[in-house]
Amino acid sequence: MKWLGQVPREQKPAIGQRLNQIKEQVTAAFDAKKAGLSGPTEDPRDAADVTEPGQRPAVGARHLVMQVADELTELFARMGFSVAAGPEVEDEFHNFIALNIPEQHPARDPLDNFYVSSPGAPDAGPGGVALLRTQTSTVQIRVMETQKPPIRVVIPGRVYRPDTVDATHLFMFHQLEALVIDRNVTMIDLKSTILQFVHAYFGPETRVRFRPSFFPFTEPSAEVDVWFEDKNRWIELGGCGMVHPNVLRTVGIDPEEFSGWAFGFGIERIAMRKYAIPDIRLFVENDVRFLRQF
Ligand code: DAH
Repeated sequence: MKWLGQVPREQKPAIGQRLNQIKEQVTAAFDAKKAGLSGPTEDPRDAADVTEPGQRPAVGARHLVMQVADELTELFARMGFSVAAGPEVEDEFHNFIALNIPEQHPARDPLDNFYVSSPGAPDAGPGGVALLRTQTSTVQIRVMETQKPPIRVVIPGRVYRPDTVDATHLFMFHQLEALVIDRNVTMIDLKSTILQFVHAYFGPETRVRFRPSFFPFTEPSAEVDVWFEDKNRWIELGGCGMVHPNVLRTVGIDPEEFSGWAFGFGIERIAMRKYAIPDIRLFVENDVRFLRQF
């Protein structure tokens, strides 16, 4: 059609007419084909182009807390630790008594625990009472009840506390517990393993400090803080210490022959430090705009 201007004047009507015919034919053929493609067809094999590349359906992803738990157990596996687990509904023996927490201790206050049954109830344990475990230290006892030293385990798991929810606290969160029992284990092993872990996971520049503390099941005890660059302050990862001789005696391990260390760290806190997450509540709000980033 563009070249029609160059056609000699006397041939223009004939050629112009022919061009218009062609244009109509092509347009009609194109429209017919288009209608055939977009409309329903008789043969279902015509409905989809099987040569098109497939599309991956949106199936979601593992939750960040679970990803971090996996990263941590893998890191400790490289240091020779195996993984153990225990029940979330516990008895008083494993949550308190075997951990050297006496009857009158404030940690056993009903207001600080989610008790799920009372003495005599069918699901109550040997202590007569069942509760949602407040710490993964319970699994230290379960491991030592069934395994002989040397022991080297990490225990990732959920714990429950009636805490007031804020930017760094939830009523349910995850801990990573570690337990090492062997001959001649000292505080040097505890400190160097934790420093190694912090520097391997967060980077070699990470600032970490040990603060003297108290736990009934360790002596001496310390709390471990890591500097949060984004928050410009120290945040506690959890507690640690040398396993108390009373704990070893309760599970039939001779404290004259064996010693050990343990720690219990908050996995959400570790994830917050690693991925600069400002608020622990983001983990449980199920906002896909948050979850999708990991
Ligand atoms: N179970 C303690 C808590 O939840 C943390 C802890 C402290 C765990 C010292 C340990 C330990 O294994 O040795 O607050």
